[in-house]
Amino acid sequence: MSRSSRKLEHIRYALENQSMNIGDFDQVQFVHQSISQVSLEDINLETVIGGLKLGSPIIINAMTGGAMETTKINQKLAVVARETGVAIAVGSQMAAIKDSTLRRSYQIVRQENPKGVVFANLGSEALPSHALAAIEMIDANALQIHVNTIQELVMPEGDRNFKGMLERIQEIKEAIEIPLIVKEVGFGFSKESAAQLKDIGVKLIDVGGKGGTNFAYIENRRREKPLEFFNQWGNSTPISILEVKAVSGIDIIASGGIRDSLQAAKALGIGANAVGIAGKILEKIVHQNEKEAMDYLVEIHEELRYIFTALGAVNILELQKKPYVLSADILNWCHQRGLILKNSLQ
Ligand SMILES: Cc1cc2nc3c(=O)[nH]c(=O)nc-3n(C[C@H](O)[C@H](O)[C@H](O)COP(=O)(O)O)c2cc1C
Repeated sequence: MSRSSRKLEHIRYALENQSMNIGDFDQVQFVHQSISQVSLEDINLETVIGGLKLGSPIIINAMTGGAMETTKINQKLAVVARETGVAIAVGSQMAAIKDSTLRRSYQIVRQENPKGVVFANLGSEALPSHALAAIEMIDANALQIHVNTIQELVMPEGDRNFKGMLERIQEIKEAIEIPLIVKEVGFGFSKESAAQLKDIGVKLIDVGGKGGTNFAYIENRRREKPLEFFNQWGNSTPISILEVKAVSGIDIIASGGIRDSLQAAKALGIGANAVGIAGKILEKIVHQNEKEAMDYLVEIHEELRYIFTALGAVNILELQKKPYVLSADILNWCHQRGLILKNSLQ
């Protein structure tokens, strides 16, 4: 099967999968604060990830490109990103590196959003030359390298050999001049993997946790004999944030099952610097229209301001100092994993 046909199947099954997964965010609760001392109009949602300044903590995460049919989706996503002031990542660009006729399906994002923050995207099989080509293709502000071993293993035509992954990421890190983001695609991160990446100089991780779009489910739909046990595999997004937070010096993008403002606020509150949304925005674009997708993001920004105000936090740094409580399951995970819960007011 060609990469283009695979991309279209991913979109189809991802849309089918959107309402199936719930995630762990209900296991994180902010402690209500009666004394706020801040005004809604003073809330500042700006953030910095890997030295890159963003006007909003929301990122439209990597999805499409690589099939002519996806040019239209990427165009709409780019308009939504431009109009709402959020950063946007394109889907894996290897297809266009192999076949230059597909470049336009990615370049449309930069064309529609010339001044915006746009991330390039490749898999961990990429070499420095691929990385430089992907960055140049869309004049990217950062590069995402996705690590997706479970997806590849379940994918009928996927990779089975992951040797040299760390070395390739290190070579890319050394070859490029913009921030490098290493991201998962929905199975989450551990502190061990984060430490391995830190050792090779990576400073920015998108945890891509379990709880949203499920690529084991998607690839199992494409298999004759499903590997069912992978459907429940992975570390949830809140757990992944707490895992990566245990490794100092890494900025965290939280993604995987973020669908509303409260989930986004919780992700930021427990340690993320920004939040990625993929499947939910795709659903808005494909099943509704750009206007609905824009309204959805405007509403998240507005509601974040309300949540920050309720908690008495004027920005993300202050939000991260507000106390929260974890339910027994996550707390048990943290104890067994030796994760220290730093929460300044506790
Ligand atoms: C249709 C589709 C295609 C995707 N393609 C890519 C990709 O090419 N590269 C990548 O890093 N992640 C890809 N992802 C994963 C997302 O960036 C994100 O990590 C994942 O969907 C979890 O976020 P969500 O629960 O908000 O969807 C894709 C997601 C979807 C829904």
